[in-house]
Amino acid sequence: MNDRHEFSDRMLSLGLARVAEQAALASAAMIGRGDEQAADQAAVTAMREQLNLLDIAGIVVIGEGERDEAPMLYIGESVGTGNGPGVDIALDPLEGTTLTAKDMPNALTVIAMGPRGSILHAPDVYMEKLAVGPEYPSNLLSLDMSPQERIEALASHKKCKTSDITVCILERPRHTEMIADVRSTNAAIRLISDGDVAGVMHCAESQVTGIDAYMGVGGAPEGVLAAAALKCMGGQILGRLKFRTDDERKRAHAIGISDYDRIYSRDDMITKDVIFAASGVTNGSLLPGIRRAPGWVTAHTLLMRSRTGSVRRMEYRTPVP
Ligand code: FBP
Repeated sequence: MNDRHEFSDRMLSLGLARVAEQAALASAAMIGRGDEQAADQAAVTAMREQLNLLDIAGIVVIGEGERDEAPMLYIGESVGTGNGPGVDIALDPLEGTTLTAKDMPNALTVIAMGPRGSILHAPDVYMEKLAVGPEYPSNLLSLDMSPQERIEALASHKKCKTSDITVCILERPRHTEMIADVRSTNAAIRLISDGDVAGVMHCAESQVTGIDAYMGVGGAPEGVLAAAALKCMGGQILGRLKFRTDDERKRAHAIGISDYDRIYSRDDMITKDVIFAASGVTNGSLLPGIRRAPGWVTAHTLLMRSRTGSVRRMEYRTPVP
């Protein structure tokens, strides 16, 4: 870590957008090719190359996995030139590997950065998540409420019927009961096949997306990235780690987690101001995907800073031979 440099969210944000853009451009070559691993690898390689051009002393705290399972962008990897502020980085070079391989909507490249110690070091396990947008008070919902109680609380706050509420849920067998409980209230469900970072981010723009809340179990790293997005856009997320084996508990313990039942709020996961960038790979409801025209390729990026609450939607066009 280099203490001589302060974390300047403003100066670093454009660099972060470039990292997300280049990862999206690289993985776009693999859209619809049926090869999840190759799509992910293309994004990882490009993201790493771009990160290493930035004047930061970066540490990957949410990454592609442990050092022994991920050759690049593993948790604990140092990135950047080393000539700059010490920063924590959370990344998912390709959020939606299956979406990309099958050319389905909402595959994104995602990265967040903050000063050292700003981002929860979450193990690669599952997390139970519950998120709402900025129009709802932070204490309205809890993870201990039933899905039905949550819908009723949302409707009561919004002064509408439960049938006017829409919840986003990842379509998985583990959610069968939750889905039935939500359906019993007549609320609508937007089922997504993958990509719960986008699912959570949809809550922050409910006027556009029509989604009031996200609930269900997905990846913990994605939960922390979604918390970083909501820290910038507004909105709340609660997360509780879900362990399936003792080995998963041991891995959590090794990175400093001892209370396995702890409920993390957005600000427990993201403790200081961060910057966040996401670029569209396939077309989606958050961002258009990579577009090709003869001689050109275009990427769209969402770039946000929590300190200012600024949200930029950027279009980048570059010539291709
Ligand atoms: P990948 O792109 O890494 O495959 O993740 C996609 C995703 O849908 C995440 O958005 C979500 O958190 C997680 O997978 C859910 O895990 P699972 O597919 O095991 O239910």
